Amino acid sequence: MAQTFFKTYKRLLTYSKAYAFRIGLAMVASILVAGTDVFLAKMVQPFVDDIIQTRNWSLVHLIPVIIIGIYAVRGVARFIQEYFIRTSGQLVVQDIRNDVFSHSLGLSMKFYTNVPIGNLISRIVSDAGILQRSAAQVLVEGVRESFALIGLICLAFYTDWKLACVAFLVLPVAIIPGTFIGRKIKNYTRKGQAEMGIITSVLQEAYSGIKIIKSFATEKQEAEKFFQKNNNFYHFIRKVLKYDSATAPIVEILASFGIAGVLWYGLNRVMEGAISVGYLFSFLTAIVMMYNPLKRLTKVFNRIQESLGAAERVFEILDEVPDVVDCDNPIIIDRAKGNVVFKNVSFSYEKDKVLDDFTVSAIPGEIVALVGPSGSGKTTAVGLLSRFYDLQEGAIYIDDIDIRKVSLASLKKNIALVDQESFLFNETVANNIRYGNPEASLEAVQNAAKMAYADEFIYGLPNGYEEVIGDRGVRLSGGQRQRICIARALLVDAPILVLDEATSALDTESENIVQKALYNLMKNRTTFVIAHRLSTILNAHKIIVMENGKVQESGKHLELLEQNGLYAKLYSMQFES
Ligand SMILES: Nc1ncnc2c1ncn2[C@@H]1O[C@H](COP(=O)(O)OP(=O)(O)OP(=O)(O)O)[C@@H](O)[C@H]1O
Ligand SMILES: [Mg+2]
Repeated sequence: MAQTFFKTYKRLLTYSKAYAFRIGLAMVASILVAGTDVFLAKMVQPFVDDIIQTRNWSLVHLIPVIIIGIYAVRGVARFIQEYFIRTSGQLVVQDIRNDVFSHSLGLSMKFYTNVPIGNLISRIVSDAGILQRSAAQVLVEGVRESFALIGLICLAFYTDWKLACVAFLVLPVAIIPGTFIGRKIKNYTRKGQAEMGIITSVLQEAYSGIKIIKSFATEKQEAEKFFQKNNNFYHFIRKVLKYDSATAPIVEILASFGIAGVLWYGLNRVMEGAISVGYLFSFLTAIVMMYNPLKRLTKVFNRIQESLGAAERVFEILDEVPDVVDCDNPIIIDRAKGNVVFKNVSFSYEKDKVLDDFTVSAIPGEIVALVGPSGSGKTTAVGLLSRFYDLQEGAIYIDDIDIRKVSLASLKKNIALVDQESFLFNETVANNIRYGNPEASLEAVQNAAKMAYADEFIYGLPNGYEEVIGDRGVRLSGGQRQRICIARALLVDAPILVLDEATSALDTESENIVQKALYNLMKNRTTFVIAHRLSTILNAHKIIVMENGKVQESGKHLELLEQNGLYAKLYSMQFES
């Protein structure tokens, strides 16, 4: 446990290094703030002994000047300290968030199928937020109060070391409840934040699925689910608050022993004539002033635990090792000719083989249609080509190069994907089309749109190409979305095309337009298409019929019909209604 503590702590420090100057400045200011505390406590002795007891009037007039002066210095120092520390905290967390986000994007699809998106979002937003708030407080108060405490302790020992011993006898006792509480706070913070991840998931799911919720009228049910998760969060946070609230009273009760002891023993020493009244008061002021930093420091200790709990969750994402990565010295393919070979490919997500000795090849410009029952491995097969996952046996070659030897960036540049879902970003139409090719001119964008038969409807939008199309493109029809995705793929102009046809058919008219757009897209490219449309199948040079991850049959439409096997069966089910 101690090991992860230091490891996490060290990582946080590494991030702070970039802001060493700000933090250093704040530290110097902290020393100044703490110094004024010690100075004030020290001033009590001459105040009592030299002014009150000797009735020195000239010094009386000096007192307001000194006090205001000290507080002016203290105020400026405090501002410098808080401002620079807090901004450092923000900047550090900003860097951590940036790192976590870019790292997470590099993780493979395997990671994303296993971790709920809400969980990721909450780590980057909420946990990093806790980290930032706690870190700032730890740095601001931790540093300032430590200096104040050390200064006051020194003053106490300097004034009367015997009295100081009495006062600090109880201090070690305070450590025991302190560490116990700290551990609890860290654990419950982690548990609470895990619940926060679930809450975020529920929210994310509900808002994405708002249409389904409305159509099934499950608003109440979803709300109940949310209340439940929210309450689970409270359950853990309540415990954090309980232990946190107990900290100050415990310290105070322990402190009362110290103060009682000091007063009793100190008064004895004054009566004996061993020390002056001024010394006793100065000492008492130091002790009383000390309990404030002490209380704050125990709180700070709690904050450290809290931030470590959150930091661990954030760093867990950073520690996730991407499993689909470039090999050493990867080959960069500029533009592939488009020969694609799946050679004896076997693949499984978990235990069962989803692809089993799968062999398929395509020459440049060929259209290969994959058909087969649901779950037969069609999506999986084309996903392997883009290295969403790495296969376990066999190999996939592009122009005779094993794709694992090709740099991921250049591999992706050579493959355009038009997905079933037609995912669009909440951006302008033009930016959605140039998504894979951000430098493309408006002219190029318009050309792609024309080829995709999207130009006309885009001009019909109020702002044309500059129209923002809403989350996931909700402001467009299904067919329009598909055509924008086709334009996007056209603009990338990759030699290899992967097409996962939408299962939901459009009405005949827009179906025809999409079909024409697809025809333009497939021209002169090696195309792997998961086919649901009869027209695509008829256009294909080769049809691969899959079942349970194996190639069952292959050939052209008429040949396959003649064989009267699986294809003939699928065909009659799907198209001859
Ligand atoms: N991320 C995943 N993790 C584990 N198993 C998966 C995953 N994705 C798919 N599978 C399993 O792999 C098998 C093949 O799935 P795949 O999506 O490739 O089928 P498909 O042929 O595309 O089906 P459909 O026509 O319904 O889209 C299925 O049995 C499915 O349960
Ligand atoms: Mg599929």
